[in-house]
Amino acid sequence: MNSILVTGGTGYIGSHTVVAFQQAGFDVIVLDDLSNSSEQVLDRIERITGTRPRFYLGSIANQALLNSVFASHPIDTVIHFAGFKAVGESVQHPLRYYQNNVAGSMVLFDAMQKAGSKKLVFSSSATVYGDPGVIAYTEDLPLRPVNPYGQSKRMVEDIARDLQASDSDWSVALLRYFNPVGAHPSGLIGEDPRGIPNNLMPYIAKVAVGELSELNVFGDDYTTPDGTGVRDYIHVQDLARGHLDACRYLNEHKGCTAFNLGTGRGYSVMEAVDAFRKASGQPIPVRISPRRAGDLPEYYAVPDFTRKELGWKAELNLDDMVRDHWNWQKNNPKGYDS
Ligand code: NAD
Ligand code: UFG
Repeated sequence: MNSILVTGGTGYIGSHTVVAFQQAGFDVIVLDDLSNSSEQVLDRIERITGTRPRFYLGSIANQALLNSVFASHPIDTVIHFAGFKAVGESVQHPLRYYQNNVAGSMVLFDAMQKAGSKKLVFSSSATVYGDPGVIAYTEDLPLRPVNPYGQSKRMVEDIARDLQASDSDWSVALLRYFNPVGAHPSGLIGEDPRGIPNNLMPYIAKVAVGELSELNVFGDDYTTPDGTGVRDYIHVQDLARGHLDACRYLNEHKGCTAFNLGTGRGYSVMEAVDAFRKASGQPIPVRISPRRAGDLPEYYAVPDFTRKELGWKAELNLDDMVRDHWNWQKNNPKGYDS
């Protein structure tokens, strides 16, 4: 059986995707340098699926390692999650982001090219759109990211597109995730950010579990229904399933195609807090704070193209997301170190 190589497969979205692929009968190989994840994820995946994925500890920038992985296994498709993702850190340390996300991806693509393994699913982000002047994002909007992290994602998209244009054997799906949240319903895997979380849902979860005292709501005077920021939160289980659909699509379509992965509707910060209060029974104190630099008031995906082409549609709603996020957090109050 041909294998699927998942870079960044012990990370948050990667681990859920590995489970989805194993449960769909694929042989999965994980490559991760554990720079932002725990090896314990492999035990948890084994507990969920009964199979421990083969694991290579190392970086996508390690050419010799990649060549040996491709030489040892017939890799059908590469699902490429590995990279750094903190917007603020990317502004402070842009070279780290260009080095790891862009240069690292180039080493990976070169190894794929040499091995003749030319099907790629790439983790892009809604952040590639920047501030397009509309709130409903379609894939054909111009890409004008506003920070080095977003630039790095756009650059990798461009590189993949150029590569495919140079060699029609390549098939590439660029998946632009909106705001992934939630966890596997088993509560065995989930998001485990190091330090104080930057993102809303893991922050709320740490307030709910008592590790942080209150949530700072970054602005309540936006032109949104309740004044707080609106985003398209998507359950990580729906997202993981999207990778299976993208993988199937690549078997039948050459080219390089971008797909939004979002639900198509937005929720405000206060709607997310209220849903989490209901699911957890915890009070979740909030403090209204100044707006966060660089935040947009509101945006969400137009998922119509993805639905038409991939046959994929998000099925889980905000209540499902917060229920599963809370289930993970309360069972693992200190993440994988609990
Ligand atoms: P994550 O940090 O949990 O997972 C990334 C994984 O990649 C980690 O396990 C890390 O150890 C590994 N990694 C980093 N650099 C590596 C390298 N050079 N070689 C090998 N492994 C390396 O992040 P995530 O939330 O699971 O995100 C996965 C991907 O999706 C990332 O590319 C991210 O940019 C993208 N994305 C995430 C979000 C989000 O909000 N979580 C939104 C849009 C896009
Ligand atoms: N927010 C708060 N308090 C917090 C954290 C967030 O009020 O402590 C608010 C933000 O202002 C925003 C919303 O919650 O209105 C969501 O913020 P997140 O930080 O969770 O998510 P972002 O939409 O800012 O960005 C996320 C990822 C990016 C990715 C982008 C894609 O962090 O990496 O989604 O759309 F690029």
